[in-house]
Amino acid sequence: MAKVIAVAGKGGTGKTTLSALLIRSLTKNGQKPILTVDADPNSNLGETLGLTIDKTIGDIRENYMRDPQGVPSGMDKINYLELLLNQVLIEENDYDLLVMGRQEGQGCYCMVNNILRNFTDELVKSYKYLVFDNEAGMEHLSRRTNGKVDTLFLVTDYALRGLRALRRINDMIKELGLDIENVGIVVSRAPEKLGDAFMKEVEEIGLPIYGTIPNDDMLLEFDMERKSLMDLPDDSASVVAVDKINAKILAS
Ligand SMILES: Nc1ncnc2c1ncn2[C@@H]1O[C@H](COP(=O)(O)OP(=O)(O)O)[C@@H](O)[C@H]1O
Ligand SMILES: [Mg+2]
Repeated sequence: MAKVIAVAGKGGTGKTTLSALLIRSLTKNGQKPILTVDADPNSNLGETLGLTIDKTIGDIRENYMRDPQGVPSGMDKINYLELLLNQVLIEENDYDLLVMGRQEGQGCYCMVNNILRNFTDELVKSYKYLVFDNEAGMEHLSRRTNGKVDTLFLVTDYALRGLRALRRINDMIKELGLDIENVGIVVSRAPEKLGDAFMKEVEEIGLPIYGTIPNDDMLLEFDMERKSLMDLPDDSASVVAVDKINAKILAS
């Protein structure tokens, strides 16, 4: 069974960047194959990895719901949906990417969601790692049948407000009853030394800090030039920082 790594936090804090750099670091360490799931409806993990996304699970779900009778003759609906889902999976050399896309509209999605869940549960079995880039609500994560998560990174920027958002997410995790082995904080755009007020709030939350990522101008540059974060130089500040965080995962 794949080791499950999930990344969550407020929007714009650096979740997708951390997810992409974790994938980079894991593959460089030979920890593959990896399945990465972009579970944020404002999906951009694919772009960050330099990929073009033209289809998402959400599209398939909506198309099917719009025309449930559109199953080709000679096929049952389960086979048909599975066929479509397989087409959404983007296969790269070292990792595969599944983009969840938009959330469901009104209506009863139970059947489609069950097929989807079975599909992903089966799929996960053939990977060494599953890296989950979540939306703040963690819907997709909480829907997995085997909801176990090995490591959850809660990402915040260097601000008390970010930490408070993170505290709410941590409370929600408990309410959802997710089975998570290790939970820790990653501070993005962090200064070299975290200030006392910040550390005091961290202590109150009671979670360890798994690592910090300094401000890295190369991220902006790569974003502007639509380059994949997989191609960042090994010695760029964010890569070095995430390699360090990754070393902790590998050790756990
Ligand atoms: N450590 C960092 N240094 C500089 N820019 C960063 C850093 N982390 C993230 N960014 C930038 O901030 C923006 C939001 O980051 P992103 O990872 O997409 O956040 P999220 O997925 O949480 O919404 C992106 O443009 C990204 O390049
Ligand atoms: Mg994101």
